[in-house]
Amino acid sequence: VQDSIVLVTKCGIRHIDTAKRYGCESLLQKAIKESGVNREDLWITTKLWHSDYGYENTKKACLESCERLGLRSSQHFFLFLLLGLCRSIGVSNFLISHLEQLKEDCVVTPHVNQVSGEIYHPFQGPQELVDYCRSRGIVFEGYCPLAKGEALTHPSVIQLAKKYGKTPAQICIRWSIQNAIVTIPKSTKAERIQENCKVRFSYALKFD
Ligand SMILES: NC(=O)c1ccc[n+]([C@@H]2O[C@H](COP(=O)([O-])OP(=O)(O)OC[C@H]3O[C@@H](n4cnc5c(N)ncnc54)[C@H](OP(=O)(O)O)[C@@H]3O)[C@@H](O)[C@H]2O)c1
Repeated sequence: VQDSIVLVTKCGIRHIDTAKRYGCESLLQKAIKESGVNREDLWITTKLWHSDYGYENTKKACLESCERLGLRSSQHFFLFLLLGLCRSIGVSNFLISHLEQLKEDCVVTPHVNQVSGEIYHPFQGPQELVDYCRSRGIVFEGYCPLAKGEALTHPSVIQLAKKYGKTPAQICIRWSIQNAIVTIPKSTKAERIQENCKVRFSYALKFD
């Protein structure tokens, strides 16, 4: 909890990605409260598990996550959104075929597609999926931007890190941001999280 408080207050982290399965939603509630950061300034994502499929199960799981995270429901959106439980909804690891199927079955286009590092990291960028998501207004979010740490020892990443006076992790994170991908690197170490936050991006992103 103390580490999370430091990270929110010192590093300026405002996007917190968690999940019911990670088992830390209650701890995050404590950290958020103690940090003193305004709730409105935080973007918090949580995820349900396979056993939560189905309308009633999903609603229950969503409410329980809100409870553990200490989040008030938002009034702004519809569907789950209609229930006022969250501001936006997303999917994870969806390929184009999944998103097309969803179009047949659902009335709400997901706001976010959080995609695995096995699909998206510096050595693998599925541009077709990225373009498809963008064309439908779905934010493409890449998790495992460091390929779970494996990208950090790649000779090209090390070479770029030396060239620009950055660390390998910063090179990978910058690569995602520069490609207009929302990125959520993970570290259990405060000093590495601070390092990962120090990535500058100083020119405007262009969306067609
Ligand atoms: N939607 C989904 O199904 C799903 C699934 C998995 C993960 N996620 C999300 O994606 C986030 C990131 O995924 P991930 O943890 O699998 O992959 P990642 O961010 O690509 O890599 C994390 C690994 O890199 C190491 N690392 C981080 N910063 C470093 C640095 N500056 N220098 C050296 N090593 C560094 C970490 O070690 P240390 O901890 O020792 O620093 C850890 O072993 C998770 O926190 C989660 O929020 C989503």
